[in-house]
Amino acid sequence: MDKLIIEGGRPLVGRVRVSGAKNATLPLMAACLLTGGRNRLRNVPNLRDVGTMAALLRELGAHVDERPGELTIDTARAEGDECPYELVKTMRASVLALGPMVARSGRGRVSLPGGCAIGERPIDQHLKGLEAMGCRIELEGGYVQARAKRLKGAEITFDLITVTGTENIMMAATLAQGRTVLRNAAREPEVVDLAQALNGAGARIEGAGDSIVTIDGVDGLGSIDHAVMPDRIEAGTFMMAAGVTRGELTIENAQMEHLTAVVAKLKEAGLRFQQTPKGLVVSARRAPRPVSVITGPYPGFPTDLQAQFMALMTLCNGSAVIQETIFENRLMHVPELRRLGAEIECGGNTAVVKGVRKLSGAPVMATDLRASACLVLAGLAAGGQTHISRVYHLDRGYERIDQKLINAGATVRRESEPGPGKAH
Ligand code: EPZ
Repeated sequence: MDKLIIEGGRPLVGRVRVSGAKNATLPLMAACLLTGGRNRLRNVPNLRDVGTMAALLRELGAHVDERPGELTIDTARAEGDECPYELVKTMRASVLALGPMVARSGRGRVSLPGGCAIGERPIDQHLKGLEAMGCRIELEGGYVQARAKRLKGAEITFDLITVTGTENIMMAATLAQGRTVLRNAAREPEVVDLAQALNGAGARIEGAGDSIVTIDGVDGLGSIDHAVMPDRIEAGTFMMAAGVTRGELTIENAQMEHLTAVVAKLKEAGLRFQQTPKGLVVSARRAPRPVSVITGPYPGFPTDLQAQFMALMTLCNGSAVIQETIFENRLMHVPELRRLGAEIECGGNTAVVKGVRKLSGAPVMATDLRASACLVLAGLAAGGQTHISRVYHLDRGYERIDQKLINAGATVRRESEPGPGKAH
């Protein structure tokens, strides 16, 4: 297992480029199962999770050719119908293969994902949608088995807003007989990116990005040829890196329109934004003002930036309240931030962050993807050395983030550390 060693306490000044979005790439890869053709995805980030999804597609019989930034996925012979536990347990997004498998071949078997560090994360809404479309669902031996001669369009109202649930059922509906209407659908930009790619292949999806999405099924799809949207969570992470180090970053490929709630909160905290031909310049000159946040579904403040925002607020000149409403256990970065000198009180899913003048480097441990990003930000701001262990969490969702930060003036190095073998 690797660890990062950060010499912090200096402003970040330089340029970073945002990679393709992990949370758009994963559903787009699964969508290739629908077409039975030769699909091409561009602007693909080089991430562990992308590698895991590629392994899953190969397991199902697809031919996946990986080149830097590009994937060619041929699903002509992807007749497989089982996503094994060994792969699903490392990445819950594997469930995104279920809708396409059932839509294409009438059957699919996916290991129940099991919980993960940030919460139980059930898939009941995914299954409710497939059942509404005529799927017979059986749960046995820790696997979900779904079968249907041909999916039929249905009216489906999700009990709660689910991003991959919306994506899974939207994909299945593209090949169903008749019209499907999804209500209480997730509005995330990644859902829109997926719909655009599918419509480019002949699907008939309307309303993606709104809470009501209509899909008219077609008999078959052409190939997907699509450039993945930039990663808004990575962009938001770099904005907060500029803020927490009181530096100035030029962020290439950031799409502010995907981060309106985040940019509003960062401006309230005193960060400055300037759109230039070279990219979005984000800077800060002084300690951030205290700003409180409640996470919520898009277009609310994204849960995937909650931990990073907390890192910023550890140095605010006052107290900020941060409330996590999406996942039941997504405050595990708090004890690690305290090790760096932060003053944070937690009650349930709410943290009260009392700003301190400075953080001091210390050894800390990453617990999940976004918590590790939070610790990188705090380490960049802390005086002295911060060792972050278990950075495989970080590599799941950030492409070469240590290299990008070094190019922006950070002192970061990666070291291997003896551990109980690389957890996949
Ligand atoms: C997606 O996860 C993202 N992952 C997550 O990003 C993100 O945090 C999350 O959406 C919320 O925005 C991908 O897109 C691959 P949900 P997803 O279904 O779809 C509950 C990251 O760091 N729920 O929107 O799994 C669920 O437990 C990752 O990049 C049910 O109860 O999240 C959660 O509390 C982490 N039943 C809430 O809904 C269901 O059937 C939202 O989950 C589905 C979800």
